[in-house]
Amino acid sequence: MIYLDNAATSFPKPPEVIRAVSGAMEKIGANPGRAGHRLSLAAGRVVWNCREELALMLDVPNPENIVFGCNCTDALNLAIYGTVQPGDHVITTMLEHNSVLRPINGMVQKGLITWTLLAPSASGVVTAEQVADAIQPNTRLVVINHASNVIGLAQPVEEIGKVARAAGVLLLIDAAQSLGVLPVNPLRIGADMVAFPGHKGLLGPYGTGALWIRDGVKVEPLHEGGTGSSSESMLQPDEMPEALESGTLNMAGIAGLLVGTRLVRQRRQEIFEHEKALSDRMWNGLQDMHGVCTLTTRAPDVGVVSFNISGFTSGEVANKLDKANIATRGGLHCAPAIHTHLGTLDRGAVRASVGHSSTKQDVDALLSAVRDIAKEV
Ligand SMILES: Cc1ncc(COP(=O)(O)O)c(C=O)c1O
Repeated sequence: MIYLDNAATSFPKPPEVIRAVSGAMEKIGANPGRAGHRLSLAAGRVVWNCREELALMLDVPNPENIVFGCNCTDALNLAIYGTVQPGDHVITTMLEHNSVLRPINGMVQKGLITWTLLAPSASGVVTAEQVADAIQPNTRLVVINHASNVIGLAQPVEEIGKVARAAGVLLLIDAAQSLGVLPVNPLRIGADMVAFPGHKGLLGPYGTGALWIRDGVKVEPLHEGGTGSSSESMLQPDEMPEALESGTLNMAGIAGLLVGTRLVRQRRQEIFEHEKALSDRMWNGLQDMHGVCTLTTRAPDVGVVSFNISGFTSGEVANKLDKANIATRGGLHCAPAIHTHLGTLDRGAVRASVGHSSTKQDVDALLSAVRDIAKEV
């Protein structure tokens, strides 16, 4: 099978990551931070080492401000529900994933908050000026999808960061498709929070993700419970990361994420160039195919290319590609607002997304299969 669904989760995972997961389960196995015995301490060290590795990846000084969760959705929900209050106004782009749109729209539908949804220009970009114009006296939060999981284009996050900081508004970056490929430096961006999955660009296992929070930003917990610390108190502790991290952590997953992040940190630029060259090849190859239309008018910034073939729904094309042993994703990619904006809400789009181990041959096989399907009409 040729796997071109890396935007959903990266596959295959490096053997070192798989060994780290099974090694943690076989040799450590204990609950991190819950006891004083050697196995629990060893498990706690794995978790701390991963926090430190992620802090290096983000180039931030405070590993304790990295809060583990099960995926990027978890991290985004914590950031949104943990900061937005009744009466607030929130700004997002139409490029956001449902893990941003649903929590925010849910609060809007309950009459708790107001919301401005910014449309990207024809070149797929939401500008800092658009964000500045949308800011109101009660704006609490701006959420920006750093690189779109539908059109693969990156947003000018540093310019948007300057606007948010000048206005004293919190900025949350969704780095689901950018971390591990593009530089994501929250301090340079001026972000207050960065949510990211462990299982995509960082090559970690499923069930991993985290939220980085700037010092001094108050985030209310989504879950309260056992932290292994301050157990005499029936109130959630204030110290980070325990304040926002209740319950047993996915230690084996975090062991894999530690190794995945270390591998990616050493090779990020190389991975970026590799994936960019492949997505350029794919996007360019689709341009001159009769009956095929890409969703963007320029090549993507990350490894995500979406397209349609006239005469077919995206689901039909994805099924045909599956029969040709090529894994892609049809439909709406959990991002209905951008599909509404692009006029593809009814048929969706076929998304082909390359990863660290994709090859030119994979891309050429996709192009050849798409050409064959387009000829069927
Ligand atoms: C831009 C974006 N945000 C958030 C998510 C949610 O990530 P997760 O599947 O880790 O919850 C995704 C997943 O595809 C995504 O592409």
